[in-house]
Amino acid sequence: MIKISPSLLSADFSNLERDVRRVTAAGADCIHCDVMDGRFVPNITFGPLVIRDIRDKTDLPLIGHLMIEHPEDILAEFIKAGCDTILVHAEACIHLHRTLQQIKEAGALAGVAVNPSTPLCMVEEVMGDMDELLIMTVNPGYGGQAFIHSMLPKIRAARALADERGLSLDIAVDGGVNLETCKLVVEAGANALIAGSFVFTNPSGIDAAISGLRERRGTL
Ligand code: DX5
Ligand code: ZN
Repeated sequence: MIKISPSLLSADFSNLERDVRRVTAAGADCIHCDVMDGRFVPNITFGPLVIRDIRDKTDLPLIGHLMIEHPEDILAEFIKAGCDTILVHAEACIHLHRTLQQIKEAGALAGVAVNPSTPLCMVEEVMGDMDELLIMTVNPGYGGQAFIHSMLPKIRAARALADERGLSLDIAVDGGVNLETCKLVVEAGANALIAGSFVFTNPSGIDAAISGLRERRGTL
């Protein structure tokens, strides 16, 4: 099954409860929460307090995409606040294996995100320790950027490696996902789609955006 995960980065931050309820009602599979610290990426969003406040507005799993330096120092706070999965960036973790164990010991599912310039070999040795591998198809920091097509071979290689090793991790794609690119990434082997601006700034509305992706998913 292909999972659809709206990214709150493009939601209306003054109406987060409304937007969380809308994507839940529209049939999203989980909610992707983009956490930025102004250092690992040039933008700043929110921390565990916001996660805590949206936790009881939806039954969907909350995925914390931590685009922050030293995620090991604060990831437990995000789990306590209600994140079901924590994604750390490979580029931000010197001891990635240790950080993945730390996430699991704190009671959450663990995943790793890789920037467009980061090769798959940076995370190959810990693929068996993760529940999700997130392949960035834009440089993290902002919503609404163009999909980087040259990432498709990386998605294919990740899927081939997972199949070869018999791993059941999710292979997710984040950045520039829309009705056209979702077909390409699913064909390349992704099974989880993160979409921010396509969902929240879609002229046809949130319901139509999610049902569009869902219908597209059904045909793939
Ligand atoms: C980018 C974030 C994404 C972002 C994607 O740094 O990690 O989750 O919201 O936005 P779109 O779907 O607009 O490219
Ligand atoms: Zn993200």
